[in-house]
Amino acid sequence: MAKVKSVYVCSNCGAQSPKWIGKCSSCNEWNTYTEEIHTQKKNKPGQLNSPFSGTKPTLLNDIQTGKFLRISSEDEELNRVLGGGIVPGSVILISGQPGIGKSTLMLQIALSTQGKILYITGEESDEQIKMRADRIQQPVGECYIYADTEISAIIQQARALQPNVIVVDSIQTMYLDYLESSAGTVSQIRESTAELQRFAKEQNIALFIIGHITKDGDIAGPKLLEHMVDVVLYFEGDRNYAYRILRARKNRFGSADEIGIYEMFEDGLKQVKNASQVLANRHEEAYSGNALGIIGEGSRNYLIEVQALVSRAVYGTPQRSATGYDPRRMNMLLAVLEKKCQLPLGYNDVFLNIAGGLRVDDPSIDLPLAMAVISSLENRPVSPDFAFVGEIGLSGEIRPGRKLNQKILEAQKFGINTVFVSAYAKSIQSSGNTKIIYLSRVDQLPDLLNS
Ligand code: TYD
Ligand code: MG
Repeated sequence: MAKVKSVYVCSNCGAQSPKWIGKCSSCNEWNTYTEEIHTQKKNKPGQLNSPFSGTKPTLLNDIQTGKFLRISSEDEELNRVLGGGIVPGSVILISGQPGIGKSTLMLQIALSTQGKILYITGEESDEQIKMRADRIQQPVGECYIYADTEISAIIQQARALQPNVIVVDSIQTMYLDYLESSAGTVSQIRESTAELQRFAKEQNIALFIIGHITKDGDIAGPKLLEHMVDVVLYFEGDRNYAYRILRARKNRFGSADEIGIYEMFEDGLKQVKNASQVLANRHEEAYSGNALGIIGEGSRNYLIEVQALVSRAVYGTPQRSATGYDPRRMNMLLAVLEKKCQLPLGYNDVFLNIAGGLRVDDPSIDLPLAMAVISSLENRPVSPDFAFVGEIGLSGEIRPGRKLNQKILEAQKFGINTVFVSAYAKSIQSSGNTKIIYLSRVDQLPDLLNS
């Protein structure tokens, strides 16, 4: 094997240095040096044309795809998010904020998946894992726990054990002893993942890697791994609420917009099968500022309650805050409502909230949010028998959004009386008792409020 030597390379201009330096002497940028492996390669320039003895190009029609037989986990939410189960030899990154429940989720999957599982813990001791497993009270399959953080020892153990699935908790604690930098640095994270990935691909083992991210999601480590791995999953939610969403961000083996919904209990995470039932509270009494929306993420469609509070600003600049909704989009939405419906939103504080502390990506959430804002401002409730679905454009027009028919079907199943959709929607099917009302502009919304 070639001798391993590390050098520090400026990520801005590519200059090299044998030691870490804070300021690059060639491009004058600060904090751009990261450690990289430098190996002595056999090939010298000009030798690339030498006879090659490796695999040959294969005709596309001759390639067999049978090796993608998936391992089905007991967790149906995970199976769906992964596109139908765990692909052997795939590398899956699970990132999320500390304390959101990544270790709990992965332990539950490790305990319930068929085959031999190796759970590597670098953060907790094996007793702590056992205590968590006792708390979850799930039937235990063939799950091995190994507490270590050094990659070559881990690979040695894994080679001896021959598991079907490996879980690494977490990548920030792992290190390679031939690198100088400490665990958690960019170079350790990148090289440790590369070693684990090489081993997993060679042995056809599915590898789950847990990575922590900060609230803004921009810590260097896991972000940089997203290019390397096959599947990127985000585990997200608000820690003050019990609901969690497992969201696919990249998937080389399936669709990348699927979500799985879980609820955190004392004894672990439970799958939420009927999301509308838990996320859409149907109050007997109507409150102002509440509205029901129907959203679709991946193959799931569900009803969700949104809330707005609009109140007179006490200080000069009004406050704006949104939980589960993009704040820039909120500003746009409020500006459109102010201009097109002549509402005095500029003098008011506005707070938006989506049920369960969940984040919603589907733009069809615009219409129920706009309705909730107008309802709170006017202090008149929206009928709890109404549901809204639609995207709002800059000129105040209401657009249909995706998969409208499935959303209407979900509202029907839930017993909603009336669904408000875009007048630009084509080929809407309505069956059952649910009435469909078409809206084309936001200025039609204030008329829908109860008196
Ligand atoms: P954990 O899986 O350790 O989070 P992460 O690995 O993402 O840092 O879980 C963190 C929280 O979950 C912790 O505050 C306790 C809570 N929890 C439960 O509510 N119920 C449970 O059964 C378990 C195991 C944890
Ligand atoms: Mg953890």
